[in-house]
Amino acid sequence: MNNPYEFAKANQDRFLDEYQELLRIRTISTQPQHAGDVAEAAEWLKAMMLRIGMQRAEAVLMPEGRCPLVLGEWHGAGEDAPTVLIYCHYDVQPAEIADGWETAPFEPTIKDGRLYCRGAVDSKLHVMANLKAVESWLASEVKPRVNIKVVLEGEEESGSENINAFIAAHPERLAADIAMVSDGAILAPDQPSLTYGLRGIAALELQVNAPVSDLHSGHWGGSVHNPIQALTEILAQLHDENGTVTVPGFYDDVVDVTATDRALLQKVEPYLKAEWEDVVNAPALWGEREYSLPERLGARPTLEINGIHGGYTGAGMKTVLPAQASAKITCRLAPNQDPARVLRCVMDHISRLAPDSVAIDLRPSEPGAAAVLLDVDGLAMRAAAEAYEYAWGVEPVFERSGGSVPICVECAKVAGEVVIMSYGLKSGRAHGPNENIYLRNFYNGIQATIRFIDVLGEKRA
Ligand code: BES
Ligand code: MN
Repeated sequence: MNNPYEFAKANQDRFLDEYQELLRIRTISTQPQHAGDVAEAAEWLKAMMLRIGMQRAEAVLMPEGRCPLVLGEWHGAGEDAPTVLIYCHYDVQPAEIADGWETAPFEPTIKDGRLYCRGAVDSKLHVMANLKAVESWLASEVKPRVNIKVVLEGEEESGSENINAFIAAHPERLAADIAMVSDGAILAPDQPSLTYGLRGIAALELQVNAPVSDLHSGHWGGSVHNPIQALTEILAQLHDENGTVTVPGFYDDVVDVTATDRALLQKVEPYLKAEWEDVVNAPALWGEREYSLPERLGARPTLEINGIHGGYTGAGMKTVLPAQASAKITCRLAPNQDPARVLRCVMDHISRLAPDSVAIDLRPSEPGAAAVLLDVDGLAMRAAAEAYEYAWGVEPVFERSGGSVPICVECAKVAGEVVIMSYGLKSGRAHGPNENIYLRNFYNGIQATIRFIDVLGEKRA
């Protein structure tokens, strides 16, 4: 085959089989009992890198890491050629049939043009679309005019300690002219979008204690500030009725959306509204009235209560006055907010709100990450736009995504320019039951990455 586009088209069925093979491996990085599965997937990916013609491939486990990083390199374009680094993660969130799956979570199932499986969209779609694009290039007579590095992370869903330590210890191994971070979602199956912003993240845990142990609520109720009550009283004061966060200083450093942002984000509003109806479908839209849906989702910081715990929730009744209650909280951050400073503001505020009748314990969860805002006119961004247009036949729109991909910040330290290329969808239900992709987006994604590599080579020439 003399060109990668045709090679990819001719090999679609095999590519799909291999993608399904990877999906069957339960790479749940957060659960220690799956460490063996993660290691197996790492070896599988390394073997694939060597098979498709990468010149160097290895699975690396850092001393403190739990899940291997898989690194591959092809430097056939020569020393003077630019290097593109492709990043994806192959670990997944936990999944149990009882969470509401209609099919076995780790058995890929194809129905009506969609493929259902944990990891289908987040993020084995990206792993396979990119590896198959590289394979298509290396199998063709024409070769890439850029050198290619691939790094696949195995613990993105559980803290990323391994990769951060690896980059700090060996920055040259991931050094590149352009880092392409492949994760996240486009706007709609037939409307590609380029993510030019991501929110950052800061996380903490709050524990409220009052009595030394669970008590009889008849003996002692009315004399002790119930920790669940105290916790919910604190939590209820963290937002006002407009959904604005009440923590003093929280918004101090936030860069407000510009007129340019407003104009770009206006175009994505109808798509996001439709997707909100489909995926969220709550009784009513909620949040800061003065900001549009795309602004609330992509450009504004939030404070979310992720879970609360406390007391008795088993069958029947139990007249208990619980000893403690706790909550997990995360903030999504806007550009220019410092995760450490936001955490300090939130913790100070909670400490002030806590009444003397209870004791509180506040624990930040490290490390947090800053938001990302990319230049929409950068060389890599323009190459990506061309790649999407080629693969989808539709010009991409620009979007700011609400999720966090801390590795973008790390990549910016070792690469000249960072670009995000996503092939998933929000309706792909990442982290939830019935995670899925449209098969055509897998094939389009392969074509897009092939084109991206092509355009980067052209721009260099
Ligand atoms: N694929 C997501 C990141 C993402 C989500 C990008 C939505 C764009 C839009 C990634 O796997 C993820 O879930 N990241 C976590 C990171 C966090 C635990 C630090 C997230 O955003 O919650
Ligand atoms: Mn994820």
